[in-house]
Amino acid sequence: MEPLAIDPPLLTIRGGFLRSFEKNVAVIRAIGFNIELTIFRPSSTQYDEPLTLFFENIRGQEVEITSPDGKIENMLRSETDVLCDVTGLRTQKIFLSSSRASEEFDFLFIGDVHGMFHHFESVIESANQLDPLFIMANGDMTHSGRLEDFHAFADVANKATVPVFTSLGNHDKRAKGGRATYRDLLAPFYYSFSVNHSTFIVLDSSRKRGLQKFQYKWLERELQVARQKGDRIFVFLHRPPVCPKYNYLAFSASANAHRFLALMERYRVEIVFGSHIHVFTEFEKRGIRYVVTGGGGGALWQPQNVHHYLHVFVKRDGVDIRMVQLPTPEAKVSQRIKDVLKFNWDHHIGRNKHIQQMLLLWTALNLGQSAVERRERRWRRRQRF
Ligand SMILES: [Fe+2]
Repeated sequence: MEPLAIDPPLLTIRGGFLRSFEKNVAVIRAIGFNIELTIFRPSSTQYDEPLTLFFENIRGQEVEITSPDGKIENMLRSETDVLCDVTGLRTQKIFLSSSRASEEFDFLFIGDVHGMFHHFESVIESANQLDPLFIMANGDMTHSGRLEDFHAFADVANKATVPVFTSLGNHDKRAKGGRATYRDLLAPFYYSFSVNHSTFIVLDSSRKRGLQKFQYKWLERELQVARQKGDRIFVFLHRPPVCPKYNYLAFSASANAHRFLALMERYRVEIVFGSHIHVFTEFEKRGIRYVVTGGGGGALWQPQNVHHYLHVFVKRDGVDIRMVQLPTPEAKVSQRIKDVLKFNWDHHIGRNKHIQQMLLLWTALNLGQSAVERRERRWRRRQRF
């Protein structure tokens, strides 16, 4: 007799995404502190085995798990994971929510690790001692966006005893399939999460021009919801919209940058955190505080800069930001300048089509010139004999 075909349950998730679902075990990665999971079993009579759920990247010891219409059994908790079995009705909801109520908290923030994972490891080590609410890695975690780079990053991130959130950087999508790998392993391209009366909005500004129309639409809706709730709003994105000192590295479309600045102003965002530029700088635009921090590992933009990450303290009456220096190799000014030139050559100048064409032309002219000179020399030699 042919075995009966069994349809697996359907899952819809808010506040996380499905990393894998095999043999009745679903692995769900949190992208915030609250998850709402809906399970729909196509046929409860044929499919009555318990479903095993593994939630990762969540504060496992603190999170509350409830299921109004189902049964949760065999629960195991670690600092950042929760494992449990669920059985129940045909349609079932499960809620995971953060039980931290304090309005004051802290988090660690690092930008532009660029594959220098020993720097990221230092951040993880201090997080495991200090127990901030979360760690944010704001893009360019990898230098080339290859699968093995993402796995190396994830291996380090998995050592953390607090959740690690990420945004997509331009380098993370350099390799073919980099975007998809990022989405499959770490996070959606843009998302938001709320905790302790604060909303964090994470954007995808990996594109040179700035955000796309559909992302602006989503962003405005998120800002409206956060404002209605009376939350404090923080925005994280890799490429900043503007940067007074290094504006050529910010959004390349100025209309796009203006649109972004106007939204931040209209919804009174508390701080916009950007990275991408390998420095630490702070400025104000239209009354909004902007922080740019890209010192996590990529070549430093100016000889006097240092590798660093931020320790951010969200307090009732403001936000304190402390820069924590990471080991920065002693380098002569000339070496730092060489590093910056090499970095610029590799990622900006060398990839510019017009400059490439000019260089090709210059090389061709030089080659042509030396060929003419060689011919002339040969001719003169023959004249002498
Ligand atoms: Fe970078």
